[in-house]
Amino acid sequence: MDRIRIVGGQRLNGAIPILGAKNATLPLMIAGLLTEDTLILDNVPRLADVNQLQRILGNHGVDIMIAGKRPGEEPNHGSTLHISAKTIVDTTAPYDLVSRMRASFWVVAPLVARMGGAKVSLPGGCAIGTRPVDLLIMALEKLGAGIEIESGYVIARAPKGLRGGEIVFPKVTVGGTHTALMAASLARGTTVIENAAREPEIGDVADCLNKMGANISGAGTSRIVVEGVARLNGARHSVLPDRIETGTYAIAVAMTGGDVVLQHARPELLQAALDVLAQTGAAVTPTNEGIRITRNGASLDPVEVTTAPFPGFPTDLQAQLMALMTRARGTSHITEAIFENRFMHVQELVRLGARIKLDGDTATIEGVSRLKGAPVMATDLRASVSLVIAALAAEGETTVNRVYHLDRGFERLEEKLGACGAAIQRISD
Ligand code: EPZ
Repeated sequence: MDRIRIVGGQRLNGAIPILGAKNATLPLMIAGLLTEDTLILDNVPRLADVNQLQRILGNHGVDIMIAGKRPGEEPNHGSTLHISAKTIVDTTAPYDLVSRMRASFWVVAPLVARMGGAKVSLPGGCAIGTRPVDLLIMALEKLGAGIEIESGYVIARAPKGLRGGEIVFPKVTVGGTHTALMAASLARGTTVIENAAREPEIGDVADCLNKMGANISGAGTSRIVVEGVARLNGARHSVLPDRIETGTYAIAVAMTGGDVVLQHARPELLQAALDVLAQTGAAVTPTNEGIRITRNGASLDPVEVTTAPFPGFPTDLQAQLMALMTRARGTSHITEAIFENRFMHVQELVRLGARIKLDGDTATIEGVSRLKGAPVMATDLRASVSLVIAALAAEGETTVNRVYHLDRGFERLEEKLGACGAAIQRISD
C-alpha cells in the first residue's frame, strides 16, 4: 500500500490547477442511467472513486469510455467520459459494491424512475458516522415508489412509473436532494422539493439534467420545482470546479506561508471558507485565473467555526481547518454540526504535537508553536489530507499511511504540492 512522505517546513509558491468536483462527478455519472443516449462529461477528475463508480455502473450494463489525451491538450485537463446506459441489464446494486462507496446508493433513483424497480444494498456506516438513508427513501416514497427493506437491501418498485409529489426534507441532505431531483425528472407531473440542499454540486447536476431535457427550476435555492418529462436525452456537460480541493490547497498555503494561485477555482463556491481563511490572516484575492492565496511570515489568528450546509462552512473542510488552527496564536473552537463522528483526525494531529480537546461535537484547539513529524494514518479522505497539511508545517519527517483514502478524492496531490516546493514523495511498496 502506498504511503506519502513529507518533510515539513517548505513554503508553497506557484500555481495549482483545480479540476472538476468529485461530489458533482459522482451524481452526474449516476444521472447517465436516466437516458438511453450518451451523456458526455468533461473536466472529470482522475480519482479512485470515479473508477469505483465506473465498475458499479458497469454492473448495471453502462458502458463508459474515457477519451484519451488530445494533441495540444494542457496537461492539467480533466478527462472526458462518454457514458452510455443504452440497455440496463441489471437493476441490483450488490452489497460488496455499494459498501465501498456510499454515493453509489443513489443509483436507486434513476433505476426506479427509468426501469420501474431497483434493488440496492443499504450502504452501512462509515468512518465519519452512521449516515442513514431514511430521507432518500422518504423522497422516493413521496414520488409513489413502494419500498421494502429485505436482507439489507432496499427494494424500490414503481411498475407504472413515478408520479410528482411534495417532498419536504426535515434536514438538509445533499444525497436526498440528488435522489429526489433524478427521480422527479422522469416522474409524471410536478414535484416540489422543500428545504433542498443548496450545495453548488446540486446546481451543477440540475444544469446537466436540464441539458438532458429535464425541466428543473430553483436549483441552488431551498425550493426546487421539477416538471417531470417522459424521457431524457444525451447531453454534454463540464463538471464545475472542486470547491473542497480548492479550500484544501488554500488552507495548505495558509499553513506553510507562500503565494499560490489556485487556477480555475471559483470564489463564490466557497466564500464562507475563504472568509474564515481571511480571518486567520491569509490574504485571499480573486484573480482572472482563479484565487490567489498568500501569507507572509505573520502568525495565524484563531477562529470560531461551526460547519453548516451550503452556504455555510463545509464539513468537508473541517479537518483541514483544524490542522491549520493547530498552529494559530491562541485558542480556536470548531464545531461539527453535520456528522456526529467526524473527528478521526484529532488523535492523529495530536501525534504530531497538536493540542486538541474534544467535548461532544466541539473541538478546542490550542495553537502550538511547533508540530513534529511522525507516522500517521487516517480513515477518511478529508481526515487524511488534514494530516498532509499538518505535515507540511511539521518539523522533520511525517509518513501518511493508507494513501488510498487520499486517492479517492485528490488527483495527483503529491505532484501538485511538490510543484509548489513541498518536500513530498509517494512511496510504493
Ligand atoms: C454528501 O454526502 C457528500 N458526498 C459528503 O462528502 C459531504 O460531507 C456531505 O454531502 C455533506 O455536505 C457526496 O456528495 C458524494 P448528506 P451525503 O445527506 O449526501 C443526515 C466527502 O468527503 N442524513 O447531506 O451522504 C446525515 O447523517 C464526503 O467528499 C439523514 O439523517 O450527506 C448527515 O448528518 C463525505 N438521513 C446530514 O443528513 C438521510 O437519509 C447530511 O448528510 C440522509 C442524510
